[in-house]
Amino acid sequence: PSKLSRRNYTAEKVRCGTSKQVAVVGAGAVGSTIALLTMMKNVASEILLVDKAKDFALGQTWDLADANIVNSTKVRQGTLKQAGQAEVIVIATGAKQQPGESRQQLIDRNYEMLKETIDGMQPIQKDGVMVLVTNPVDTLTLIAQNISGLPRNQVFGSGTYLDTCRLTVYLSDLFNISPSCIHAYVLGEHGDSQFIAWDAASIGGRPLNSFPEIRQLDKETVRLAIANKAMDIIDYKGSTYYGIGACGASICESILRNALNIRPLSVYVKEFDTVLSIPSKLGAKGIEQIMPVPLSPGEHKQLMESAATLRAIGERYQK
Ligand code: LAC
Repeated sequence: PSKLSRRNYTAEKVRCGTSKQVAVVGAGAVGSTIALLTMMKNVASEILLVDKAKDFALGQTWDLADANIVNSTKVRQGTLKQAGQAEVIVIATGAKQQPGESRQQLIDRNYEMLKETIDGMQPIQKDGVMVLVTNPVDTLTLIAQNISGLPRNQVFGSGTYLDTCRLTVYLSDLFNISPSCIHAYVLGEHGDSQFIAWDAASIGGRPLNSFPEIRQLDKETVRLAIANKAMDIIDYKGSTYYGIGACGASICESILRNALNIRPLSVYVKEFDTVLSIPSKLGAKGIEQIMPVPLSPGEHKQLMESAATLRAIGERYQK
């Protein structure tokens, strides 16, 4: 390695397959939280932080390196070209929602930034797994699938994984049970048309609908509380980044450990000809298998509505 520059060395390690490099494009609050939490998981050999604001990104890598007292993950500033050679590429760059602004209203600005980012990364290494986090994540994932040159199963988004975490925490508090024993999905759009798959939900192997506490809940009130959580946080602190950062780091861990766990992620569903969140098995190759859960007629209707909303928006960007 001493004869090779760091860049060649990194490329050399990728070619040998010994590298577990995560590139995070976007060094702002979300991207740097993903980098920090991924570093803490000790699953990556190196984290590359990329941002157009080069001095800011360099400062972030120096600050992150100071947190690196527990493991061997290296963190350094990189370029888009280098990011294109990483095993995992996290796209966290783009404008964020302002108070009162919907995720979909970000699309035009973030579409341009995504195109510029993906073009700058080309040629992307053929086994790369690209994880979209920037909003509107479902539509940007569809666009990234269309322009990245990677197979669709290697390009997916964080989708309603964060909404599902929010629902799990809510139910954990309601039932005073560990979140790890609660299995309940938010599915569809990471946005206003998302819905809760109540019929497939369970606690400790028992159907959620069989608990008296659920029968006393107004399910639409719960759905809205989860769907509006981001806006509530934005109203108080300006943006969200810890929840999405934890989801992003967990996704990187699942890929690098080939964990084969099931998460609600933004995936392409042929039946709907669009991208939305469906439970999917996640491993080293990205989306290994889409694993839909049984839905009630009402829930299936909500899924179709969410798909129709996203397909209509996606069609505007199918160039
Ligand atoms: C949220 C952003 C990541 O839901 O969309 O917090």
